[in-house]
Amino acid sequence: MPSSVTKVEIPNFICQRNSSSGPRIPCGGTTLAGVSAPDLDFDQVYRESPYVPWVIGEPQPLLVELEAAGEIRGEVLDVGCGPGDNATFLASRGYHVTGVDGSRTAIDRARAKTDEVEFVVADATRLDGFEDRFDTVLDSALYHCLDDDEQRAYVAALHRACRPGATVHVFCQAEQLAGMPGPRVIPEDNLRATFTVAGGWRITRLERASYTTSMTEEILAQIHPEAVGRVPLDERGRFLMPVWQVAVEWVAL
Ligand SMILES: C[S@@+](CC[C@H](N)C(=O)[O-])C[C@H]1O[C@@H](n2cnc3c(N)ncnc32)[C@H](O)[C@@H]1O
Repeated sequence: MPSSVTKVEIPNFICQRNSSSGPRIPCGGTTLAGVSAPDLDFDQVYRESPYVPWVIGEPQPLLVELEAAGEIRGEVLDVGCGPGDNATFLASRGYHVTGVDGSRTAIDRARAKTDEVEFVVADATRLDGFEDRFDTVLDSALYHCLDDDEQRAYVAALHRACRPGATVHVFCQAEQLAGMPGPRVIPEDNLRATFTVAGGWRITRLERASYTTSMTEEILAQIHPEAVGRVPLDERGRFLMPVWQVAVEWVAL
């Protein structure tokens, strides 16, 4: 590592399923910083880690493209919104946005960014209190945090929370490159089995894309040196995680 690079201390904690400050956050099989954890306590990550690989301090470029293409409409839910950069971006573009996350720390940070979004601490696998409300849902890197049972509960909860004809946009990890640390890999079969017409969803897009992270080569050198020089980076040197970009449309049950 060049001497000019400040070493970021990355805690290697393995977290408990129950967050101490918020509702139960199911998040099966996620890993961070190379630690395979049965579950990751996202609230602890936000509270204690100076580095969070999905927090890039700006909206996710994939979302910016979706918005520019006119694919966001009506009442919007950003589910698993984290510290709110995507929801804040959408609000700045004039949308009425609700952001939901299981981590109180993330929601507190999101609320500090804008008054234009309603940010709520809630479990995405239940979405209690949201009925027949949303026309567009953004799921940026939440789905791959859930195990199979949680995914089924989540898509059923989403169906209740959305209006007829709603669209859900999902970005979820498609491939693990060079043994990189990260969330679970979602096979195409998983998506086709979870988002079914019988379950109230029709897949309208299923293609590969890249999700921008804050993981630079300096960070990689600390947490997973085997991947240095072997994974795609954007023009700012940030690791591009291969994802599925999925769109599903609400259909009547
Ligand atoms: C990988 S982060 C993605 C954050 C943000 N959407 C982004 O793209 O930067 C996943 C987020 O989902 C939240 N999360 C995980 N499981 C959840 C659940 N069951 N209910 C609500 N939020 C959950 C975590 O707290 C975390 O903020």
